[in-house]
Amino acid sequence: QHINYEESAVSTQISAHKLDAEGALAGTVVVANEQTGGRGRLGRSWYSPPDTGIWMSMILRPEVELREAPQITLVTAIAVVRGIEKATDIEVDIKWPNDLLLCGKKIAGILTEMQADPDRVNSVIVGIGINVNQTSFPEDVKGVATSLSAMTGKIYHRAAIIAEILNEFQWLYDTYLTKGFSFLKPLWEARAVTIGKKIIARTPKESIEGIAEGIDEEGVLLLRDNNNKLHRIYSADIDL
Ligand code: BTN
Repeated sequence: QHINYEESAVSTQISAHKLDAEGALAGTVVVANEQTGGRGRLGRSWYSPPDTGIWMSMILRPEVELREAPQITLVTAIAVVRGIEKATDIEVDIKWPNDLLLCGKKIAGILTEMQADPDRVNSVIVGIGINVNQTSFPEDVKGVATSLSAMTGKIYHRAAIIAEILNEFQWLYDTYLTKGFSFLKPLWEARAVTIGKKIIARTPKESIEGIAEGIDEEGVLLLRDNNNKLHRIYSADIDL
């Protein structure tokens, strides 16, 4: 496995897309100590100061259908949760689809971006951002973000966490490709906080309020609204 380290990147997603276009090996990982233009989902920015967090992206070339690609976000979430726990003993929760929470606050996020033709996935760039040793956050995310350190008062070794995450990801991704997402669904559910709760799913089109019943075999969120209608949610922002 190749790991490219950058002291300062605009975004490891950008670095990874570039390496991908240049033909880098699948499995290549880009890690940065700092991002000057870290990005989150839905065009948001991602606060990525130096020395304190894990900012990394992986280049994958899975043989999957376009509609299956979002499952890779869920597989990655399982790997990050398990890796963090192995390295630090801290148990983090998964909020569908891509947020990881600690005591209800965001500790990590996953950003999955695809290079695809209409009929096939060429490559998938999976970005992982984890707040590890930050002790303070900018005003706009203060109320909703936290770090491992902010929760426990300890300082964590980032490389050890990265190693555990990649270790977990390797077998989980391999299992996913050979056996399918449904095989990993129980592992995902074991750490999901969204399920069985009242939530609001915001999509560009509408907001739907209801109970999150779970995810299906394909990783799609099942949301029963207040009129007892079941919605299949492929992508949304979730308010708990
Ligand atoms: C989100 O929760 O909105 C996703 C955040 C993803 C952040 C990571 S940090 C490494 C990689 N590079 C980026 O610019 N973003 C992702």
